[in-house]
Amino acid sequence: MLDVPVVLDRAAARPLADQLADALREAAAAGRLRVGERLPATRALAATLAVSRTVTAAAYDQLHAEGWIAGRQGAGTFVVAVPPARPVENPMPAPVSLASAPVLADLRPGSPWTAGLRTDVWRRAWRAAADSRPEQRPLRAGRPEFRRAVAEHIVRHRGLVVDPAAVLATAGTTAAVTELALAVLRRGDTVAVEEPGYPRAVGALRAAGLQVQPAPVDDDGLVVAALPTEARAVYCTPAHQFPLGGRLPAARRVELVTWARERSAWVIEDDYDGELRYDVAPLPLLAAVGPDVVIHLGTASKILTPTLGVGWLAGPTGVVDSVLDYRNAAGAGPGEAGQRVFTALVDSGDLSRHLRRVRKELAARRELLVSALATAGLAARGDQAGAHVVIPLANSETERRVVAAAQGAGLLLDGLGRCYAGPADRAGVTLGYAAPATRADLAAALPALVRLLIGAAPAAMSQPSASR
Ligand SMILES: Cc1ncc(COP(=O)(O)O)c(C=O)c1O
Repeated sequence: MLDVPVVLDRAAARPLADQLADALREAAAAGRLRVGERLPATRALAATLAVSRTVTAAAYDQLHAEGWIAGRQGAGTFVVAVPPARPVENPMPAPVSLASAPVLADLRPGSPWTAGLRTDVWRRAWRAAADSRPEQRPLRAGRPEFRRAVAEHIVRHRGLVVDPAAVLATAGTTAAVTELALAVLRRGDTVAVEEPGYPRAVGALRAAGLQVQPAPVDDDGLVVAALPTEARAVYCTPAHQFPLGGRLPAARRVELVTWARERSAWVIEDDYDGELRYDVAPLPLLAAVGPDVVIHLGTASKILTPTLGVGWLAGPTGVVDSVLDYRNAAGAGPGEAGQRVFTALVDSGDLSRHLRRVRKELAARRELLVSALATAGLAARGDQAGAHVVIPLANSETERRVVAAAQGAGLLLDGLGRCYAGPADRAGVTLGYAAPATRADLAAALPALVRLLIGAAPAAMSQPSASR
């Protein structure tokens, strides 16, 4: 069998044998036939193409004479060399490089400390993940052992007791927000989203046809009293408000759950980095306060890597059933590999050990960063948690200048403006400190960062600064 499609034009003036030789030559030049590949026998190829054997034999003779193929008696005909590829007539324009200098450090928020993931631990998890055969059909809710491992993870690291039956595997938080928008909410519904907040949540909701209403936040997180009354759901980050870094106080958690109950609205609790807290013990999850109205979303993106594509949803039965109905109808669902790897890491105890290392390292990095900024009179804001802080700046114009100047100096930063669905009422930069491979790499970037920020005339510190 020849896997290469060959089209012969019987009406053309060019003889069929020449057309066939051209097609095979071009296939080799384009990489569709490789050196060492066996070509079909002339008789078989003639039958496939519905031509006489003289046509295929003549084409092979031609290619043989040119030196591209060779035949061995009884062994068949093989490709022995390939013609050079023809230059593409309309080459794609070269990608424009946005970085104006070699990257000294990526300080954008969002990255985990992947260099801290021990290679032997990672390899062991993937090996264990391959121990059993793949499923023949997708498990729409996720693998049973994954749902059990997630329940174990959340009770151990987030203090929430949850039945594995109430847990669904997801492909990550953003994917879960999309699923909720499609399965639980209705096109045109209004969802209140923290402002400033997580831009991908806004993007996912809007892409699914929902209206996003900004909901104000203060130093403690979401201002429940200011929630838009028409909202059918609220998306929030109570453990560590993204990006400002506050922690929603217990009284506001109760207030939020009451608000949702009174309106039969949903609260989507994005617990994206809840495992990472370096000072006080975490407060009870919203899902513990209002299990009937809160949909809890967790992710492996911050504690392992977003490339695993693994997250989880824990919610009321009705929500779980609606998501499953949607998945069954749309043929959607989470991939298997990441769930297996995550399960192996939980079962071996490696995830808990890794988390201890991550917390220790990120707490030290945060201290390094905040101290370097403080010695220059710059105050960072945000709790002792997660993997980023915010440096307030005077206005959006200054923010744009700092981000551009930083890029010129090889430092990648994000402006606070990205986190607004509407007009920004604060300015600043978000600094992530998990991406550099080592603490020394982060330290090496700090002098340039501090110089840039000092030059940018930071905002008067009306807001409380980061706790030290
Ligand atoms: C607020 C917030 N939520 C969720 C995530 C993670 O999303 P995902 O699980 O889709 O990678 C991030 C990652 O940057 C985040 O900042």
